[in-house]
Amino acid sequence: MSNWIEVGQLEEIPQQGSRVVKTNDFNIAVFRTVNDEVFAVKDACPHKQGQLSQGIVHGKKVTCPLHNWTISLESGEALGPDEGCTNVFMAKVEDGLVSIDLA
Ligand code: FES
Repeated sequence: MSNWIEVGQLEEIPQQGSRVVKTNDFNIAVFRTVNDEVFAVKDACPHKQGQLSQGIVHGKKVTCPLHNWTISLESGEALGPDEGCTNVFMAKVEDGLVSIDLA
């Protein structure tokens, strides 16, 4: 079952940056790419729970600010030699409004 919630306007999220959405259990980082695509992943690096929302987006990836692991925003998986995975959530933009699916 899907559970879409509105996050806010796309314009409010800086390109290559993110906005954090708090849920009862954890935070979700909603990222905006240079091409205005949006991705949502749990705001916790699979390495040591670094805040991915503080990282820089490049392509469809984000680099963790703590130890520079690179995480795919599409799969939530660590790339390169590193292994691990964080949760990903569906995200969409409609009429400039960003929504994510908490399901
Ligand atoms: S916590 Fe993200 S790279 Fe270490």
